[in-house]
Amino acid sequence: MIPPRLHAALDAVSAATLVLLPRALRWPARLSRPLALAGLGVAAYSLATRYSRGQGRGIDLDRHRMLDAAQGAACLAAGLREERPGPRAFLTGYGGFSLAAAALTSPEGPQGIPLPPGATVAAATIGPDLMRLRCGIVNLAFIGAPGAGDRAWFLVDAGIAGAASFIRAAARARFGSARPAAILLTHGHFDHVGALEQLAREWDAPVLAHPAERPFLDGSRSYPPPAPEVGGGLMAELSPLFPRGPIDIADRLADLPPDGLVPGLDGWRWIHTPGHTPGHVSFWHEATGRLVAGDAISATRQESAASAALQIPRLQGPPAYFTTDWQAAGNSVRRLAALRPRAMIAGHGPALAGPGFQAALDRLADGFAALGLPPDSRYASALPPGSDHAPRFPRDPGARDGRGGADP
Ligand SMILES: [Fe+2]
Repeated sequence: MIPPRLHAALDAVSAATLVLLPRALRWPARLSRPLALAGLGVAAYSLATRYSRGQGRGIDLDRHRMLDAAQGAACLAAGLREERPGPRAFLTGYGGFSLAAAALTSPEGPQGIPLPPGATVAAATIGPDLMRLRCGIVNLAFIGAPGAGDRAWFLVDAGIAGAASFIRAAARARFGSARPAAILLTHGHFDHVGALEQLAREWDAPVLAHPAERPFLDGSRSYPPPAPEVGGGLMAELSPLFPRGPIDIADRLADLPPDGLVPGLDGWRWIHTPGHTPGHVSFWHEATGRLVAGDAISATRQESAASAALQIPRLQGPPAYFTTDWQAAGNSVRRLAALRPRAMIAGHGPALAGPGFQAALDRLADGFAALGLPPDSRYASALPPGSDHAPRFPRDPGARDGRGGADP
């Protein structure tokens, strides 16, 4: 981690470089002016930063890191669009430097649990009727055997924006021209609904979600602001730039039925796993012990851009920057662990299975306060420091029997 004093010195060098270098190299005004403005901006927010913790005037380090990451991302994007080699190299290099500075200054983030090599599943399929499809930084799942007929398979979540053709091609390879019976949503965050509107329209398919998720899917409410202060890396730092919705698919949206069943999907139940979002759900196949967890549990350190991009295995709680109720999030992890899943597809990271995965999940559930919580989040302030939460879903027979549906 870069100490604050060094960070301040790097900011001063950055500001001077942005203002002076383009002029010295006689770059055209379309480049030198915005870069000089960016340099003055860096100087202004650096001078206004409180480099020590605590209350006071100016902006805190959390906000400072966010501004570093935002201007780094903007420079990188501008560099990738630039045709002249010199400015292109400078913009991409400076953008990368700013992003790295933000990442290296980021606090530690939730601890999580390392996974043994044997806990990850290399195959795309887990059993004959469940397939994980990786879609950039996120996973989605097909439920249905290959060649299942028209309206006889289900899609769980719809990936990032721009992924419709990729998802459609994967669906075609598995199911031919057959359309899904429905698209099931674990929740409505942007990386789970990116291709939703297009695919639902093309397949003329209903979309099923928990009623508490409806406001984010019918155009009436955005998700609350993210919490970049959770730390853990660049994804957390950049989270204020991520879309918060809402999308509007009201004409196709239906509530998951309160009995925990999914119409037409034998053997599977949905389970309310709030915390990451109010209406988050997971999908559970009790007979085979397979879990589609969504973002209730992560199989990689999603706060880090490197981990998210490479899907480096690690068992974590929900992606911390977008989690708004940590008490409920801990309860949801405990509820899922109590089911004793044998295999899991999470929203992020590789598929996991076997005793190493089960042992890690038990440890995460039992020690969630130490292993799952971020050191800081605006949404965790109500929690007693260092204490575990009282489990609302204890490991009792009721939780073990795999009942889905609303909270017991
Ligand atoms: Fe999410």
